[in-house]
Amino acid sequence: MTLRHFRTLLDLSPAELGTILSRAHALKDGRGKADAPKPLAGKSVAIVLEKASTRTRVSFEVGVFELGGLPVTLIARDTQLGRGEPIEDTARMLSGYTHAIVYRTFGQERVDTLAKHARVPVINGLSDQFHPCQLLADLQAVGEVFDRRGHDFSGLRAAWIGDGNNMAHSWINAAALTGLELVLACPEGYRPSDAIVENAKKLGAKVRVVKDPAEAAEGAHVVTTDVWASMGQEEEARDRKRAFEGYLVDEALMARAEKNAIFLHCLPAHRGEEVSAPVIDGPQSRVWDEAENRLHAQKALLEWIVAQ
Ligand code: CP
Ligand code: NVA
Repeated sequence: MTLRHFRTLLDLSPAELGTILSRAHALKDGRGKADAPKPLAGKSVAIVLEKASTRTRVSFEVGVFELGGLPVTLIARDTQLGRGEPIEDTARMLSGYTHAIVYRTFGQERVDTLAKHARVPVINGLSDQFHPCQLLADLQAVGEVFDRRGHDFSGLRAAWIGDGNNMAHSWINAAALTGLELVLACPEGYRPSDAIVENAKKLGAKVRVVKDPAEAAEGAHVVTTDVWASMGQEEEARDRKRAFEGYLVDEALMARAEKNAIFLHCLPAHRGEEVSAPVIDGPQSRVWDEAENRLHAQKALLEWIVAQ
């Protein structure tokens, strides 16, 4: 058995990503079948949340249950971790009880520390730098529309509009694994990390960062965005609103994309800020499939990671 973690998408090879995505599609097609396999029977998964969550919590809890296992959710502020117990000790202790740990936290170094000291797989359920589980669901949503059930998304182009945040970084990593071309439009001061962009480019990613949302959206098959102030940035919200003026994804911006382009957003969304209501609630929006796919994609990930 090899211990594998999912700290970022780059913990997977392109082929492994393809295996997980094609399994996610199959699980969605076959959901609810009485003979569904229960690879987590007799196993439990800790879900440790240091930030708020609706989708991540519910999709992991339901996913673990559907795979036959027991989800154990810990809201960190109610735990000893929240009172300062070291991450290292938390990792050692949870490894004695559970078979995988999902961790939503602040700095990525906290995920890395947990993984370093755990004897079970650690899955990043969102950090300040990355949100890889969301990208599994997003790639599944793109694949559903453009008929790609594996890891090969070459010939497709995605536009990221807005903050160069954790979601943007995970899209950049996705570009490195899938051949998807990615153009990010971000205001000055809110661009993604140069190190993450350069690393993805070294791995072959076709990634460009521009300022103009219209330039990014031109010819895109996928237009996606996220909140302007992420969790932990609440105090910057007012400044950010000013900085992101002109970065609203509205019908005029969608009109620059391909005719059959889809709109994605990891949610929660702010209608009238980063996306207009007619876009997120309109015919090009795939956000509800995207959200549902968290369940299927994470079940595929859990199956794969505990079987290593
Ligand atoms: N998209 C996402 O991760 O949602 P939650 O914050 O509700 O988990
Ligand atoms: N960028 C957002 C994503 C929420 C799912 C945040 O980190 O708050």
